[in-house]
Amino acid sequence: MAQKVFLVIGAGAGIGGHAAARFAAGGYHAVLARRADEDGLAKLVTAIGDAGGKASGTLLDAAADGTIEELVERTENEIGPIDTVLYNLGAQIGNRDLADTPHRTFELGWRLGCYGLFRLAHAVTPRMVERGRGTILVTSATAAMRGNAGQHSHAAAMGGRRMLCQTLNAEFGPQGVHVAHVVVDGSVDAPDTLGKLLGDKFEAYKESKGEDGVLDPTAIADTFWHLAQQPRNCWTHELDLRPFSDVAWWNDNPDPAIRT
Ligand SMILES: NC(=O)c1ccc[n+]([C@@H]2O[C@H](COP(=O)([O-])OP(=O)(O)OC[C@H]3O[C@@H](n4cnc5c(N)ncnc54)[C@H](OP(=O)(O)O)[C@@H]3O)[C@@H](O)[C@H]2O)c1
Repeated sequence: MAQKVFLVIGAGAGIGGHAAARFAAGGYHAVLARRADEDGLAKLVTAIGDAGGKASGTLLDAAADGTIEELVERTENEIGPIDTVLYNLGAQIGNRDLADTPHRTFELGWRLGCYGLFRLAHAVTPRMVERGRGTILVTSATAAMRGNAGQHSHAAAMGGRRMLCQTLNAEFGPQGVHVAHVVVDGSVDAPDTLGKLLGDKFEAYKESKGEDGVLDPTAIADTFWHLAQQPRNCWTHELDLRPFSDVAWWNDNPDPAIRT
C-alpha cells in the first residue's frame, strides 16, 4: 500500500511544523510548504528525518493563483496519495483601523484566510472522493467567531473560512471526506508568526500570560492527529482550544471562578 501523505500549507516552527512532525511520527510522509524561510523549512524537515520520519519541503506563496494546485499535483505524482491536508495559514495583519486597511490589504487577508482554502479544496477533493476517504483540517482563530476592533480583514477572512468549512463538510462529508475546523482561541508559542509580530517583547508577553497561558503547538498537533484518526462514525467538525489561564472568546469576565 502507498504511504499516506500529510500536506501542510503554512508550516512554520509553531502549529504547522509541529503538526508535520506529529503526522510523520505516525508514519505519514509529511510535506511542508511555507512562503519564504528556506533555512527554517530545512530545519523542520531535517528534524523530522533525524527523528526517524519522512518529510520534504517546498517554498510557495499560497496567495498566488496556481501554487497550491501545482503542489497538490506534484505531491500526488511524486510522493503519494494525500490522505490529510492541514490549511494552516492565518490572515493576521495586526490590528488596523478601517482607514489603515487599504483595499489590497483586505483582499490579501481574504486570499490567505479564505480563498487559499477554497483552492486547496478544489485541488484535493476530487482525489479524496475517488478514494472514498481523506481529511481536511483547518487551523482557525478567535477572529472566526467574532469581529473586534482593528480586525476588518482578519475577522472577515476567518469568519468566511469558517462558513466555507461548514459548506465543504456538507458536500464532502457524505462522500467520505472529513472536514474539521479547529478554533485556536488564544496565543500560541509560535516564534515564526506571533514571535515575529511581537519581536523582542515575545518572551515577556508569554510570561505575562501566566501559568499555561499560551497554547503549546505540540498539544495542538496531537489534537489534529486525533481528528485525522477518528472513525467516520464519530467525526468532529468543529472544536476549540485555549490555554488554562486564558478567557474563552465568548466571555470577557476576568473572574476565574465564572469565566469558563
Ligand atoms: N500564533 C498564534 O498566536 C495564533 C493564535 C490563534 C490562531 N492561530 C492560527 O494558527 C495558524 C498559524 O499557525 P502558527 O501561528 O503556529 O504558525 P506557524 O505554523 O509557525 O507558521 C505559519 C507559516 O505560514 C507561512 N506563510 C505565511 N504566509 C504564507 C503564504 N502566503 N504562503 C505560504 N506560506 C505562508 C509562514 O512562512 P514563512 O515564515 O516562510 O514566511 C509561517 O512561518 C493560523 O491559521 C492562525 O490563524 C495562531
